[in-house]
Amino acid sequence: MPDFLVIGATGNVGRHVVSHLRDAGAGVRALARRPTAGGLPAGVRAVQGDLTDPGTLDAALDGVTSVFLLWPFLTAEAAPAVVDALAGHARHVVYFSAMSVRDDLEPEENGIWGEVEHLIERSTLDWTFLRVGGLAANTLGWADQIRAEGVVRWPYGAAPRSLIHERDIAAVAARALLEDGHAGAKYVLTGPESVTQADQVRIIGEEIGRSVRWEELPPEQAREQLLTSWGDPAFVDGALGYWASLVAEPERVTHTVEEVTGTPARTFREWAREHAGDFSPV
Ligand SMILES: NC(=O)c1ccc[n+]([C@@H]2O[C@H](COP(=O)([O-])OP(=O)(O)OC[C@H]3O[C@@H](n4cnc5c(N)ncnc54)[C@H](OP(=O)(O)O)[C@@H]3O)[C@@H](O)[C@H]2O)c1
Repeated sequence: MPDFLVIGATGNVGRHVVSHLRDAGAGVRALARRPTAGGLPAGVRAVQGDLTDPGTLDAALDGVTSVFLLWPFLTAEAAPAVVDALAGHARHVVYFSAMSVRDDLEPEENGIWGEVEHLIERSTLDWTFLRVGGLAANTLGWADQIRAEGVVRWPYGAAPRSLIHERDIAAVAARALLEDGHAGAKYVLTGPESVTQADQVRIIGEEIGRSVRWEELPPEQAREQLLTSWGDPAFVDGALGYWASLVAEPERVTHTVEEVTGTPARTFREWAREHAGDFSPV
């Protein structure tokens, strides 16, 4: 079987992609900036590489036919050189994109994820785009507040979101990498239902056996916090505007995970149960 390169292999989703490929008996290389840092499943070869320094990718890509790619930056500046490097070696890329990308918009209106999609489409690579909604793992950002005070202060508690389990994204990615027939697909991936943010917090509390309360934070205060962590004001305002819009129009739910893998997507409660330890007092 050909060799696969997983970019983002140490992350929430990539580590499960690596496990799927290894379990299928495929040759897997896991890209990491610090390959000695550990955290990879047994039997997986770590290779050094940095997306901000595309020249480092050539050695990692030598002999690779298919790649799982995520883009962990708030700018697509380095993307043309990375896509060129991938196209110089591989045949197929499965790109972890975002549900916000829409085919009826111009590439420059589709944000960073859309820019990277556009570069890949114009390359010689075959591609599969995973247009993913919000990750359930985003709620780990509430873990410190939950552990310390049993309360989550955040805006738009009434906003229903169809958060997706990282394992479901990885399961679709593995199918797209291992099977024929996924080239040219744009899979919109979400969880199986939409759950308001306040209910997500209640569910986390139920799964960790503590009462956890939602406290509505004014959006302006959230904006200050997000500017500190994300930096880019346009990205912050885009996210806040999107969450506000969900109060009136719940986030879309698709059944693509089940259509591709044959198994329904995991619920938010299943995700919270699996991650209860991350929210529990140490
Ligand atoms: N949050 C959302 O709701 C959402 C929605 C749609 C799409 N996404 C996409 O999901 C991605 C996050 O996925 P995740 O949660 O699985 O990842 P994650 O847990 O945040 O981990 C980030 C991964 O990116 C790798 N990485 C970071 N900088 C790198 C660099 N310069 N060169 C090479 N690798 C680098 C890290 O590897 P090392 O640190 O080990 O080198 C790590 O494996 C985002 O970047 C975004 O594109 C997110």
